[in-house]
Amino acid sequence: MKITVVNHPLIQHKLALLREADVSTNKFRLLTEELARLLAYEATRDLPLEPVEIDGWCGKVTVQKVKGKKLTVVPILRAGIGMLNGVLDLVPSAKISVVGLARNEETLQPEPYFEKLVGSLDDRLALIIDPMLATGGSLVATIDMLKRKGCTQIKAIVMVAAPEGVKLVNTAHPDVEIVAASLDSHLNEHGYIIPGLGDAGDKIFGTK
Ligand code: PRP
Ligand code: URA
Repeated sequence: MKITVVNHPLIQHKLALLREADVSTNKFRLLTEELARLLAYEATRDLPLEPVEIDGWCGKVTVQKVKGKKLTVVPILRAGIGMLNGVLDLVPSAKISVVGLARNEETLQPEPYFEKLVGSLDDRLALIIDPMLATGGSLVATIDMLKRKGCTQIKAIVMVAAPEGVKLVNTAHPDVEIVAASLDSHLNEHGYIIPGLGDAGDKIFGTK
């Protein structure tokens, strides 16, 4: 199974707070944003740099800047929106591509309802964000959409992943790195991650 679990103490501490049963909507939102920021820092660790000459305070100086086209962040509606501001704190000029998928509660299959992707995906890194990777259906469907539009560099940032979902994504898209705060135990009979966080979308939007 291929997944990068970031064991930074701050990430693990914030995840522990998120798992509390009586966490408020406000706290869940804030922690999700903070975790997204920390995970995005890890996920962007290998962005390529290029030397650029600038006018510095004492004359010309060669500095290192991120190479290539601005990356695109891809929140999966709804819950991915909860991670968006945290990621944008680190990459404020990123383009945003939005994908709407709702998991059918009975079949657990993702049902697409919205797609608005930025252009020139062929030479842009796409960072998919979604708090939960459960069966993996939503993530695989999103990667399929991006690849259909020519995207070749894709990473996914999730807060909690289930082994079942990681296996599905690894099999369908072995080139896509998954960065997570935790690889949890398993899915229950309703497709919820155990121990997980419960319904992340409902907790972020207060629709419980
Ligand atoms: C949740 C979650 C993921 C998906 C994960 O969204 O945010 O998108 O389920 O499940 P999967 O790996 O089995 O596909 P949901 O469809 O409940 O929609 P929401 O974000 O609008 O609550
Ligand atoms: N979606 C969630 O929000 N939580 C889960 O545990 C699984 C899918």
